[in-house]
Formats: sequence, C-alpha cells, structure tokens
Amino acid sequence: MYKVADMGLAEEGRKNYEWAYRHMPALVRTIEKLKPKKPLEGVRVGVCLHVTKETSVLVMGLKELGADVYLTCANPLSTQDDIAAFLASEGVNVFAWRGESEEEYWENIRTVLRSRPSILMDDGSDAHVTAHEEGLCDSIVGGTEETTSGVIRLRALDEAGKLRYPIIAVNNAYTKFLFDNRYGTGQSTLDGILRATSLLIAGKKFVVCGYGWVGRGIAMRARGLGADVIVCEVDPYKALEASLDGYSVMPIAEAAKVGDIFVTATGQIGVIRGEHMELMKDGAILANSGHFDVEIDVSYLRKFKSRKVRPNVEEFDLNGKRLYLLAEGRVVNLVAAEGHPPEVMMMSFSNQLMSALYLLENHEKLEKKLYGVPEEIDREVAVNALEGFGIKIDKPTEEQVRYAKSW
Ligand code: ADE
Repeated sequence: MYKVADMGLAEEGRKNYEWAYRHMPALVRTIEKLKPKKPLEGVRVGVCLHVTKETSVLVMGLKELGADVYLTCANPLSTQDDIAAFLASEGVNVFAWRGESEEEYWENIRTVLRSRPSILMDDGSDAHVTAHEEGLCDSIVGGTEETTSGVIRLRALDEAGKLRYPIIAVNNAYTKFLFDNRYGTGQSTLDGILRATSLLIAGKKFVVCGYGWVGRGIAMRARGLGADVIVCEVDPYKALEASLDGYSVMPIAEAAKVGDIFVTATGQIGVIRGEHMELMKDGAILANSGHFDVEIDVSYLRKFKSRKVRPNVEEFDLNGKRLYLLAEGRVVNLVAAEGHPPEVMMMSFSNQLMSALYLLENHEKLEKKLYGVPEEIDREVAVNALEGFGIKIDKPTEEQVRYAKSW
C-alpha cells in the first residue's frame, strides 16, 4: 500500500538512495552485521521521519532485517518525492508527498498508527502524541524520538505520568546531538538559505536565535562564510558561551534593527514576533531551522500582501518595507535543501536502529518512561563512525588505565 506523488520518480529515487548508501558506512555496517539474524522478522515498524535519501537507507535496512515498514513524513514540506516513490517500489508502505495539506499530514500519521506498529520511530513527536491522544498506543511496545523539539514534548508527557510505552530519546545520544544538531544543521541550514536566496553571506549581519547545539552549528558555519554573526539567547550560560565564542550577543529587539538574515533555532514559540518585524530593515530575510513552524510569527506576516519571488522565497510588503520569508517558516534545511548530509545521518540513524532493537528485546523490563540511548549503543555508534571515516585512535595503556582508577 502506498500514497506518493509520482511513481515515475522511483528510478531517480533509487540513484539518490545509492548515493546516500555509499556515504553512510557506519549504518550500512550495522545493518550487514545484523542481517543474518533477521531481528525484525515479522515486526511492524511505524516510521514518521523526514522522507529523504538518508531515511531511505534506514528504511531499506529495517526491511532487510525483516520489518514490515509503514512510513510517513515528519513535515508536510520535507518529503523528497523521488525517495517516496523508490521506497514504495521496494514494497515499503509509504504515505508521504511534498506539499501535503495539514489534514493530509495528520491523516497519513493516523494511517501509520492504524497499521498497529510494534515499534514507532518519530521525529518531532507528532506520531507519539497522536498515538497518545487518539488511543492508538495498544500495539506499540516502544518508541524512539529523533529531535530536541520532540524530546521536549515527550518529557512533558513523561512528567505528567502519561507515557503509554517506553521511548528512547535518540536526540540525547552524544553521537546524535554533537554531530547531527551541530554539523548537520549547521551545514544544511546554510545550504537551504543559499539555495533559496543565492545571495552572498560574507559581510551580512547574520542573526542566530538560540545557541543550543543547532544554533552553535549555524553560527559557526555563517561565520565561516564571512558573516558578522549576532546571537540572541535567553539562557545565561549559553549567552556567555556565545559571547566568549566571539559573537555579538544582544536581545532580539536590538538585533532586529541591524540584521540582514535571521535564523531561529530555539525549539520555542514566538521568537521573532510582529514587534520585531516592525523594527527590521527593508530586505531582511527570515528563516527557521527549528522543527516546528512556530518560531517566526508567520501569522503576523500573513496580514500583509505577499508574492512568491523565487522557489522557497516569499516577499511580504509591510507598507512599503519588504521582508522575505524562506520555506514558509518551516525547517529551511529540509524544505529548501536536502536536510543533513548522509555522513551525519548515519550516526543518528544507527542510534535509531539500535535503539529500536534494544526496545524490542528489553521492553518487558522497561517502564513506560523516557530513556536515554544506552551508553553501549552510543559508544558502538562512535566506534563504527570512526571506522567509517577511516580514523584510527589510540588505546589507553595498562598504566594509564591503572592511573585513571587510582586515588
Ligand atoms: N533531519 C535533518 N536532516 C535529515 C535528513 N537528511 N534525513 C532525515 N531527517 C533529517
């Protein structure tokens, strides 16, 4: 069963899958190692991730390990239609296309949940929350969550004592947030802004809202391209860190007056509001890299006349002043570019895969709570990734092991 945009794109999707596969050696090695045992034989896995070439490597791996996969997307605009078609041609149950309406988006999530999966993999927690709100948890023995914004929602569910199955916060593994959030989003956000605007970054005042791992990555890459980076933060430690990393730090109401390009990466709502847009210069560009389209108050902009000026660029006329919104205020790195590169996603998705297997094996011993990725999985992903990158490291000597344990 599938519902995709155009099955004629399947061959193009296959080539993109092969390209990603070639650049995700750590994930491929894990899949190859597990294949003979078929640990997912007869297991239905529900997947709500961005449908990208990198995700196709994970999904094909799940299939090779025996799973019956039901796949939908984690954002109405992030699906790569060629990949959806390729996966459907390989027998994956795919319900995803680029440009889904809100209604279609939620209905596709319900379709995955109604297939009664045992394991549910999510990115942003729309699937987990829907399963909980609509009484569709019964079949699920465990879940995983990919991203910071999703973990925040699950933590609230957990603290309210309402989780109905154990969930592993994949986002919180070292081999996820240190690389995916920082280097993945750092690169792909700049990639999205460049593809959408085709403008010079050097010399621009580039405002990054949020200095978590994602904000750090974006600021670093913007500086690397020659931008004058300004950071806005609410957390005193992170604000200090940004300052000592060499960036200007100021409130958004100050940054709004001088910025040329604004990027939100906070996981929070209403970070750039109408009152800030009123202060902005003619021509300012706004983009969001957080999971949800709530960080920039798009509803404020929608009060004004607008027109599409390029793919993924919408111009708003605020009584003579023009502001430019990229990718409708949704994840700019996935809507205007292709998301994180495969070398980064191989670590995130190795954590997803191994966490799913761990849940399948251990769910009876686990409580209905939010867990971190087990340390041995995180470490194995790091070791595999080093090997995949061809990097060798030293082992501590016996003397060093003894020294580290001595008092
Ligand atoms: N999230 C960010 N980048 C991604 C990618 N390339 N594939 C799937 N999910 C992502």
